[in-house]
Amino acid sequence: MQLERLLHSQGFGSRKECRRLVRAHAVQVNGQPEDDPFCEVDPDHLEFSVNGASWRYRKQAYLMLHKPTGYECSRSPRHHAGVFDLLPAPLLSRGVQPAGRLDEDTTGLLLFSDDGQFIHRLISPRHKVPKRYVVTTRHPVGADLADALLAGVQLHDEPEPVRALACTIQGDHVVHLTLAEGKYHQVKRMVAAAGNRVEALHRASVGGLNLPDDLAPGQWRWLETEDLERLWNA
Ligand code: URA
Repeated sequence: MQLERLLHSQGFGSRKECRRLVRAHAVQVNGQPEDDPFCEVDPDHLEFSVNGASWRYRKQAYLMLHKPTGYECSRSPRHHAGVFDLLPAPLLSRGVQPAGRLDEDTTGLLLFSDDGQFIHRLISPRHKVPKRYVVTTRHPVGADLADALLAGVQLHDEPEPVRALACTIQGDHVVHLTLAEGKYHQVKRMVAAAGNRVEALHRASVGGLNLPDDLAPGQWRWLETEDLERLWNA
């Protein structure tokens, strides 16, 4: 693939802008300066840098973000900063989108991709990809709460009761709740319908993929092959 075309595919601007970058000596390929935008490069495992920042060629972008509180999952956030502010510009140019949304005050694992089928599979209720939340409640939790969430609670505007796939009590005010869908404010509405209230909400995993302990709030990283395998092996 020509270098100019490769940079364009990775979100570094129009073909013309990418050509200019190369000619301005801003690009290195596999550690070597390269100023010919039309040189042929093998994209497989290609490492390159643009203005000193290192990248690897990715045919499609799959990544995870540790969403902090105070960020909206929208391209045009209204009241807070947006999660897109936490990602580098080339990823935004590639058109990555979050797989579903977390509320502004929810923290935890948020996946992004520019692969529409991947996103659809994660969020479509038909595929029932489990999402596990750590829920901190206002009132003490007991077996009655877990029983109600597992049996199913009636939410406004839903034709049938909505039930959790799993619910385990972890402390006086903490439950782990696993849901198969991602309806609007689903955890908060379910917990409220069961007579309690969510004080803090954190998504710990999607499918079989856990939020890594070493990914600090606000940080993102690529999903590698092992992460993608874990994700689908729930
Ligand atoms: N359920 C909620 O209520 N909020 C979230 O952010 C995610 C799931």
